[in-house]
Amino acid sequence: MTSSAPVTVAVTGAEGFIGSHLVEALIASGHRVRAMAQYNSFSSYGWLETLPQDVMDSVEVVLGDVRDAGSVQHLLTGTEAVYHLAALIAIPYSYQAPHSYVATNVTGTLNVLEAVRRLGIPRMVHTSTSETYGTAQTVPITEDHPINTQSPYSASKAGGDRLADGYYASFGIPVATLRPFNTFGPRQSMRAVIPTVIGQVAAGERTIALGDLRPTRDFMFVKDTAQAFLAVGTAPAEAVVGRTFNAGTGGEISVGDLVTLVGKLMGAELEVREDAQRIRPAASEVMRLVCDASRLRAATGWEPAHSLQEGLEQTVRFFSDPANLARYKTAIYNV
Ligand SMILES: NC(=O)c1ccc[n+]([C@@H]2O[C@H](COP(=O)([O-])OP(=O)(O)OC[C@H]3O[C@@H](n4cnc5c(N)ncnc54)[C@H](O)[C@@H]3O)[C@@H](O)[C@H]2O)c1
Repeated sequence: MTSSAPVTVAVTGAEGFIGSHLVEALIASGHRVRAMAQYNSFSSYGWLETLPQDVMDSVEVVLGDVRDAGSVQHLLTGTEAVYHLAALIAIPYSYQAPHSYVATNVTGTLNVLEAVRRLGIPRMVHTSTSETYGTAQTVPITEDHPINTQSPYSASKAGGDRLADGYYASFGIPVATLRPFNTFGPRQSMRAVIPTVIGQVAAGERTIALGDLRPTRDFMFVKDTAQAFLAVGTAPAEAVVGRTFNAGTGGEISVGDLVTLVGKLMGAELEVREDAQRIRPAASEVMRLVCDASRLRAATGWEPAHSLQEGLEQTVRFFSDPANLARYKTAIYNV
């Protein structure tokens, strides 16, 4: 390959919320992408189907499954890096289907690590989550905060993280872990709180059904999350390999205050109705998450570029477009 040829990178979970924004960011920065969308008999490419043609011209979509080692090896062959985002991510669904979380988030990650080792892929970015910290014991949360898994979801993600650490220690594979805090923006699924609120308001509701209003989160706009992935994926190896990096804004807002803010942005007086089916077991609810991202800043220079308000405005615009809203089921509880 000549030095000017575009680098081809693989992305798992590419058809999802963050993955589709990462694909756009990778193409904008001159990469070619081999994008795994989970195999399905509809040949659906998820959100990749909504990206502009000039972006998709540089994307090769491969239907596959991270639970299958051969499928992962096929995806990675001939690529220079892999961004591993594929996961089952809903906490409530992890109460119902924990085995599938282990198969996808633990075995799936093992398959990617093993393919990176066998094929000698020069860079892997593994995706963790702030949920692995559990309710903050000290704030802001640094990477040295204890891991405390409060749901099958977070336990399965922490399992994947430990495998990444173990593969780095045992085989020296070039893996770095990005641990994003709560991400929001266009294309997020209705099971997350911001789309739930905006989607219900955009659909004409004024009484919003929600779970616990007290937990606080550090909400980061998805384009900033995508740039954090790119920063870790393209930094010099000595700055990132073998390390874990938080990504978040350092800000904090409760779910209750978020509803008030969204109402203000959408010009709507909102009432909240507590919906019993959305309340989690007390010890499973993570009450507080606030990020210290100084390690990522120091290693790569990454900074979030959007305020919460700017991100919310773009998200409101997306969900207020009837063509986008039509893709969602706002009237039901989306587990
Ligand atoms: N959304 C957040 O706030 C947040 C925060 C921290 C970390 N994360 C992590 O970011 C990553 C992306 O999450 P997201 O929010 O975009 O969710 P998402 O559900 O939109 O994306 C996950 C993608 O993985 C795919 N997938 C699931 N099982 C698969 C399988 N067996 N084989 C291949 N693909 C499979 C899904 O089809 C989906 O497109 C996940 O690893 C998640 O744990 C998300």
